[in-house]
Amino acid sequence: MTAGEGCLKLPFVDLVSLIPDTVKKMNALDKSLFDSSIDVPAIKCLPALCGMVQKEFKYILFNRPHFRKIIPCEEKNSKDRLILLHTHIKTKDDLNKKQLDFMEKNRCTFLIHHMTISYNDFTFDEIVKKIFPENTKDIVTSFETVGHIAHLNLKPTMFDHKKLIGELLLDKNKNIKTVVNKTNSIEETFRFFKMELLAGEDRMNATVHEHGCVFEFDYSKVYWNSRLQTEHQRIVKEISPEDVVYDVFAGVGPFSIPVAKKVKEVYANDLNVESYKALKHNAELNKVQVKAYNLEGREFLDQIVIEEGICKTDTCESLSNRKKHIIMNLPAIAPEFLDVFADKYATFNLPLKIHPNILIHCYCFCKTKTPEEEAILRVSEILQVDISPTSKVHFVRRVAPNKVMMCVTFNLIWFEHKVEKCSCTNITSEFSRKRPAEGGDIPMEGKKTRL
Ligand SMILES: C[S@@+](CC[C@H](N)C(=O)[O-])C[C@H]1O[C@@H](n2cnc3c(N)ncnc32)[C@H](O)[C@@H]1O
Repeated sequence: MTAGEGCLKLPFVDLVSLIPDTVKKMNALDKSLFDSSIDVPAIKCLPALCGMVQKEFKYILFNRPHFRKIIPCEEKNSKDRLILLHTHIKTKDDLNKKQLDFMEKNRCTFLIHHMTISYNDFTFDEIVKKIFPENTKDIVTSFETVGHIAHLNLKPTMFDHKKLIGELLLDKNKNIKTVVNKTNSIEETFRFFKMELLAGEDRMNATVHEHGCVFEFDYSKVYWNSRLQTEHQRIVKEISPEDVVYDVFAGVGPFSIPVAKKVKEVYANDLNVESYKALKHNAELNKVQVKAYNLEGREFLDQIVIEEGICKTDTCESLSNRKKHIIMNLPAIAPEFLDVFADKYATFNLPLKIHPNILIHCYCFCKTKTPEEEAILRVSEILQVDISPTSKVHFVRRVAPNKVMMCVTFNLIWFEHKVEKCSCTNITSEFSRKRPAEGGDIPMEGKKTRL
């Protein structure tokens, strides 16, 4: 089957080969270096016939986004139009019989149109492909946009060209006003990137929209990752209006703010004071109630989640349909914070059971070929209990060729007496400690008795 006879659509017209080699020597953006020309096949017809011609030749049109396919005929006093065809068509002989018959019947002519091409006709990807053929993929896929900010993660081999790449990115993306490059380091605790300005305005206050909420924050001081939006939405969907949410590493609120639109009780925490301020600001901005804290994660888990949330909760309530969700998104080290629960198990040597209504969503990075098992094992080892009977592991995203981000959701293992006091339910799931604390079970006497 030849092009134009049916379903065989030609690919986008690639203009990279037209870009002169001189652009490779450019240190700063010089748009005049991109001027060139191209011969494009075209069908000349009366203006009234444009629609019909486009329909007849739809599979072989000059196929390129943001490019006009119909242009005025440049012949003197002519009112005709030119319908541009794909550059794969070289002569009239490349057209099929049906197309030739159509042209004859409608008095159309085939011609070659000489067209000038300039910088504005090339896409960012094409320019990068011409100047940096070996690094195209790295550059084109290495940037993320956060509001008006484009955030690059360039390899050291590209550092000599970073200003030019910044200028191109800024010039070719009308919504981008600031281009920054991630410098080698990430702020260890608060997970935000150190950045240098490559092009545009030195303005780091970003406004981002995610799932019907608006977030404002200083991107140079807090963590934000637009690639997590599907994950934020997945967790928010799992939570019911009557539930309670504890967001231990809340950042500027991408879980807490949307969830507070449907849930009355949301407790959100972040140790970074800038995130904490932005979290409160975003709650106001979105007109939702979030109880915000600026505590170390372990302190938040101990005081707000365990003491205030779990221990003081009426057992009947805790066994109603009202679930508590504890979200722990600090994938590099979140499982380690579960030692707060392990410490409680060791301090109060009481029988343990699966709590039916407290769910923990704990994120971690995995590097083995079996990330599901790795994630469950890591959490189980820190808790010193086997969480596998209730755990579900979700693949969040690949962060590097050998590193994935996973989310383990499991029921909290909690003290049996606290759960069983309630007569309105019967919990049958049996649970056993994975291994006793070193030195055997810790006797209750002389230990804290308040839970
Ligand atoms: C990976 S970010 C996640 C932010 C947000 N939940 C999201 O999904 O985009 C982790 C957050 O944990 C905060 N953080 C880091 N260490 C902490 C700690 N020890 N206690 C509490 N928050 C901490 C950081 O400031 C950062 O905002």
